[in-house]
Amino acid sequence: MTDRIPIAVLASGSGTNLGAILEAASQPGYPARVAVIISDRPGCGALQRAEAAGVPGRVVSWPGASERDAFTAELCDVADAHGAEIMVLAGFMRILAPVAIRRFPNRILNIHPALLPAFPGAHAVADALAHGVKVSGVTVHVVDEEVDHGPIVFQEAVPVLPGDTEETLHARIQAVEHTAYPMVIDAFARGLVTVDGRIVTWVGA
Ligand code: GAR
Repeated sequence: MTDRIPIAVLASGSGTNLGAILEAASQPGYPARVAVIISDRPGCGALQRAEAAGVPGRVVSWPGASERDAFTAELCDVADAHGAEIMVLAGFMRILAPVAIRRFPNRILNIHPALLPAFPGAHAVADALAHGVKVSGVTVHVVDEEVDHGPIVFQEAVPVLPGDTEETLHARIQAVEHTAYPMVIDAFARGLVTVDGRIVTWVGA
């Protein structure tokens, strides 16, 4: 397949979602290819996975909140330099400035380990457990100018089990993420997902 859509994956951590995306993208017929992996954390697991997969890995260091605009512009520049048409946030723990949404309108996806709008932020699994919910889950959404807020593309529930810890619940949530994110990116790259304001429609669904 020669016309696969180039995507930039942004990750800060161990990169298990990135691993699932790379695995999907290695399969014949997958409509997207990972053109570049960008991280704010030198040496993180995601960058190690980039190297192992032979995909360019780039570091854009976090300069502090007062320079969020410049940081975001640099992320976009790196993505552009690799021809990326879609940006995929996979455990990227920095908040993008609005310039990213202007440069990649409705073309940035994020995955979040809770059923948004419940439990936004960086501690979603712990927050859900502390709240005592019986069901949490996974959300994939289009990124807009507010944190963990944009149009919801996909959700899947994950039950909270008696005795769950943050680690056990997050592990079950991640197992769902690893199937869901490659599936959503596939549909997005094929143009099977349309976004109109907050309303996301899956063509043919
Ligand atoms: C994932 O569970 C993702 O949902 C979460 O970080 C984890 C990254 O894991 N993202 C957020 O919490 C964003 N607010 P990974 O590095 O193994 O893919």
